[in-house]
Amino acid sequence: MACAKTLIPTGVCFLTWIISTAGGNYIPEAENVHWFSLDFTTILTWTVKPSEYKYTVLYSMDEGDWIESPDCIQISETECDLTNILTPLDRSYTADIQTESAEFDDTTDEDDLPHTFSSHFNPYRESNISAVKFTVQAMDDTTVRLIITDPITAIHQGGKQLSIRDILRNDLKYKINYYKAASTGKREVISDSSIAEVSKLDAGESYCFIVAAFIPSRAKPLQQGAWSTQQCTQGNMQGLSVGALVGIIFIVLTVVIVTIIVSTLCCRCCQRNKSLQITQTSAPV
Ligand SMILES: *[C@@H]1O[C@H](CO)[C@@H](O)[C@H](O)[C@H]1NC(C)=O
Repeated sequence: MACAKTLIPTGVCFLTWIISTAGGNYIPEAENVHWFSLDFTTILTWTVKPSEYKYTVLYSMDEGDWIESPDCIQISETECDLTNILTPLDRSYTADIQTESAEFDDTTDEDDLPHTFSSHFNPYRESNISAVKFTVQAMDDTTVRLIITDPITAIHQGGKQLSIRDILRNDLKYKINYYKAASTGKREVISDSSIAEVSKLDAGESYCFIVAAFIPSRAKPLQQGAWSTQQCTQGNMQGLSVGALVGIIFIVLTVVIVTIIVSTLCCRCCQRNKSLQITQTSAPV
C-alpha cells in the first residue's frame, strides 16, 4: 500500500507484497485499538486479520516501565479486561498490543514483531458513568426528596464491592432536571449528595425528574453520566389544605343557590308582567 504512493516500479512493489504475505513472513498487527470503560470496568479492544498469531498486552503507568498484563499473555481474543490492573485509577495509562511469534516459528527476531500502541487513558477521569436509578418521595406540599442509587463498579477493595461514590467521593455530584408535567419550562439543580431535596415546588402540581451523575472536576465532555429514565410525582389535591377545600365547596354552593333564587324571582316577575299586558289589551276601547 505504501508502495502506491512512492515511485517504486509496480513490479517491485508487487514482488515485495508477494514475499511479505505468501512468503510466511507476514505478521499481522493489532489495529483499531480502543478503550471502553463504563463505571470503571475498563476493556481494551482491537481488531486483527485472521492468523495463527497470538497477542500479549503490556501497559505502562505515567510513561513508566512496560508491564505484561497477567490475564492477557499470548491470547487469541481481541480484547483484554484491565479493570483490576489499572490502579491507582487516577493515572494516565498506555497499552501496547504485541504480536507474539507463533510457536512453530522461532526464526523471527522478537524485535521484528509488530507493536500497536493505544492512546492514553485515565480511568478516573474518562470512564463513562451509566444511568442511575432513583426514587422520589414527597416531603410536604412543596418539597420532594430524591434517593439516588450510586452505580456499583466491578472493583473490589477489602472484600467490598465499590460504588462510584466510593471511588469518586466528593467529586461525584448529581444533576437533577425537573419540570411541571404540564409545562415545558425546565429547572436544574446540582446535588452534592446521593439524597437530594428539591424545594419551592408548586403545591398540587405533578413534576417529572431525570438524574445524571455529574463530575465537575473532569474535562467538560466527560463530566456527565447517562441520563436516567424519568420519574414523576402524582399531581393531587394533597397540596390543598382542608380549609381551602371547604372554602371552594362553600363558594360553589353559594353560586348555585344564588342562581336558583335569581331565576325563580325573574320568572315570577315575567309572569306578572304578561298578565298585566293581557288585562290591558282586553280592556274595551
Ligand atoms: C463513553 O461514551 C461515549 C458516548 O457513548 C463514547 O463515544 C466513548 O467512546 C465512551 N468512552 C469510553 C472510554 O468508553
